Amino acid sequence: MTDPNINKPGLLLTGGSGLLALNWACAMRNRWNVVLGVHEHTVRLAGTRVTRLNLQDVMELGRQLDVLSPDLVVHTAGLTSVDRCEENRALANEANAVIARNIAEATAKRNIAFVHISTDHLFAGDRCSYSEQEPVQPINEYGRSKALAEQWVKASYPKCLILRTNFFGWGHRHRQSFSDWLIYNLRAGKPLTLFDDVYFTPILADRLALAAHELVEKGASGIFNLVGPTRLSKYEFGLRVSDSFSLPASLINRGQLSRATLLAPRPRDMSLDSSKAQHMLGHGLGLVQDYLEELQLQEATGRRSELLESVDQ
Ligand SMILES: NC(=O)c1ccc[n+]([C@@H]2O[C@H](COP(=O)([O-])OP(=O)(O)OC[C@H]3O[C@@H](n4cnc5c(N)ncnc54)[C@H](OP(=O)(O)O)[C@@H]3O)[C@@H](O)[C@H]2O)c1
Repeated sequence: MTDPNINKPGLLLTGGSGLLALNWACAMRNRWNVVLGVHEHTVRLAGTRVTRLNLQDVMELGRQLDVLSPDLVVHTAGLTSVDRCEENRALANEANAVIARNIAEATAKRNIAFVHISTDHLFAGDRCSYSEQEPVQPINEYGRSKALAEQWVKASYPKCLILRTNFFGWGHRHRQSFSDWLIYNLRAGKPLTLFDDVYFTPILADRLALAAHELVEKGASGIFNLVGPTRLSKYEFGLRVSDSFSLPASLINRGQLSRATLLAPRPRDMSLDSSKAQHMLGHGLGLVQDYLEELQLQEATGRRSELLESVDQ
């Protein structure tokens, strides 16, 4: 029997057990030969292969790339807990900046197309809709480590593509997304408090993946904001989710970041302006309503249950 992957280009996703990589893999597995590069957790996902990557050692990583020979590497791995980064700056720098530099160096040396996933957490959050030109001004260790990653990645691989984003999608048993947290709690009849003074521009993970591949095909390089075009508060997003999934909005209470006590400081406004990406793509990136309809469709067609069981502890 012929190998169905034989004529497909190769895509290596780091952070293979993470929220973004799993959804990215699902979005791309029909067209790409997807390898999920994992760290501590192991993954089982139909239509993909899984391999343990050594991202800490650039020589060993290079040898692994020579064997895997991907056409495109998308780097999603990182320490995404803002509070854990705040508690352990060295760990944050290692997981978010050093590893990113290693992958950028190893892919640059082999001329492999490289996409680095950055964040919307790079600014003070005292204004809205930050563009790519705005100087970064992170206010916590997570943001500082991701800003350092961008700087190192750009220096190591000037032709690479850096995507600043904020996304949601179905997660797994050990990693809930913001939308999972909302849906599961509301389905369980639990009241929630959501900040009405924190703003963001979320995009569905699949839309992010599709747009990223389009940007790669168009030869984009440098920094792009790849987010949804709608700026809304966490509270407003919760209401949109409850409406789309027919869940009780009465369970959602208003809260304020300005009154909360959290370990790491958080920017109040993380919204990004995605017009540069939209211009290069030649089309819009969809609306929150579209994303939520797609999220529902994904659940109806088995994505949620498939991902739920995809990662072992
Ligand atoms: N979630 C969001 O809304 C959001 C927003 C903006 C930007 N981002 C960025 O998007 C990317 C993906 O986020 P995500 O939410 O999908 O992440 P996630 O679900 O937290 O997954 C992170 C992945 O990174 C791996 N990892 C962590 N530390 C590592 C290390 N030291 N060495 C190798 N692998 C390591 C984890 O593997 P193990 O669990 O096995 O360690 C896991 O597979 C990150 O770069 C993040 O900064 C996320």
